[in-house]
Amino acid sequence: MFLPSAVAVVLDRTDRRSLPIQIADHLRADIRSGQAAVGLRLPSSRKLAAELHVARGVVERAYEQLIAEGWLATAQGSGTFVAEAPSPVVTPIVKAAKTTEPALSRVELRPGVPWTPPRATAAWRRAWRDVGVLPPPFKDPDPAGDFELRSALSQLLARARGMSVEPERIVITSGATHGLGLALSALRSPDAVLALEDPGYRSAASAAVASGWSLFDVPVDAHGLRVDILEQSSQNVRGVYVTPSHQYPTGGLLPVSRRNQLIDFARARDVLLFEDDYDSEFRYDVAPLPALAQLAPDRVVYLGTVAKTLGSGIRLGWLVAPAELVERITAHRKSIGDFPSVPLQRALLSLLRDGEWDRAVRTARRRYRERDRSVENALSRFGELRGLGAGMHTTLMLDASVAEAVASEALRRGVEVPTVGESARTHTQPGGLVIGYGRVDAADLEYALEVIGDCLEDHPR
Ligand SMILES: Cc1ncc(COP(=O)(O)O)c(C=O)c1O
Repeated sequence: MFLPSAVAVVLDRTDRRSLPIQIADHLRADIRSGQAAVGLRLPSSRKLAAELHVARGVVERAYEQLIAEGWLATAQGSGTFVAEAPSPVVTPIVKAAKTTEPALSRVELRPGVPWTPPRATAAWRRAWRDVGVLPPPFKDPDPAGDFELRSALSQLLARARGMSVEPERIVITSGATHGLGLALSALRSPDAVLALEDPGYRSAASAAVASGWSLFDVPVDAHGLRVDILEQSSQNVRGVYVTPSHQYPTGGLLPVSRRNQLIDFARARDVLLFEDDYDSEFRYDVAPLPALAQLAPDRVVYLGTVAKTLGSGIRLGWLVAPAELVERITAHRKSIGDFPSVPLQRALLSLLRDGEWDRAVRTARRRYRERDRSVENALSRFGELRGLGAGMHTTLMLDASVAEAVASEALRRGVEVPTVGESARTHTQPGGLVIGYGRVDAADLEYALEVIGDCLEDHPR
């Protein structure tokens, strides 16, 4: 005997309420109106989930909510049924799982969108109050950036990354991508080719093309860039863009031996390495490996960003380069009137000085470590997971067509998960699913992983 209208629950994926809340609201209304009489047995969560095309956990969360409110009860052997006397609302379990944001019916697993701890948000406001007491800056700033900020960043790089960098070798940028484009424009030469990871960070490719460079797509393996393929190439490679600490998007960690191989290649062919260290703050297993910029400071333009710590809307980052390149980059920058904003730089300086940056990283790291484990627990049985233990995304490697099919099916069920294919230009196999968990709360992640798991079960791999 099943609740007659249960199968008529209409889920609206554009509704701002989450799916469990929509189901709970629907069932509650049925009980209130008497349509679902006391003692009526509900379908099992598995059955209702199948009828509604949602993960079982979604229905379980709705049932748990109504049990907590007193509308439903469970008993050994008789499943879940409408309770004798519904009591007034008690603990809102489903809502309690949410933090400050309203429940969205679509869960978006975007890589690289960070979570900002509440204390960091408060510190950010305080930093702007510090900036607000300064008079408006009336002249063009130093094109290399505020010297005090560069000094604070030199200390940050020393304590967080073990790098020894004088402030004079640091240039403040509007983010890692801007820093890359700036350096590539300043250093362009006729017929210069930039080798880059494929799949890789697409904006890096676009920035290179906009700066007048041609591209050479180099495949990656479980460790990252295939340096052997680079070595065999006859292209006029003048630069290599690489994400050695957490290959984007497939997650490889370039071992020290391959880092050295890459540096040897760069020295032998007079090539510059562009090292994008976009999320190295977040490492949960092994200690970070030495940056290329530390191993070969004369060969590397190192790119850092606030995007993964405070958010990509801030548009602030830094690059570290050999001294003579810093001169060329800042001269080019001045010539095109591209200066870093003074107040923005002072706000970051304030956060670095009062220890809030380090604190925010430590707090977020704890949260991401948990999320990283949830992804591992839920998905490791489906295939190779790359990029575990680092950053804020993990990649499940799959045949590209399976990844596309699973992503479409998951989207139909309200979970948006990017594929590796979106980041591939030439090398489209293997593909995979990029599970970004930075800003996703635990309950939504659990739900999304369940949906993805369900979709994977349905696909031959
Ligand atoms: C590999 C990589 N580098 C850099 C960035 C962002 O850098 P920024 O916003 O500082 O340009 C991202 C963001 O998604 C990224 O994936």
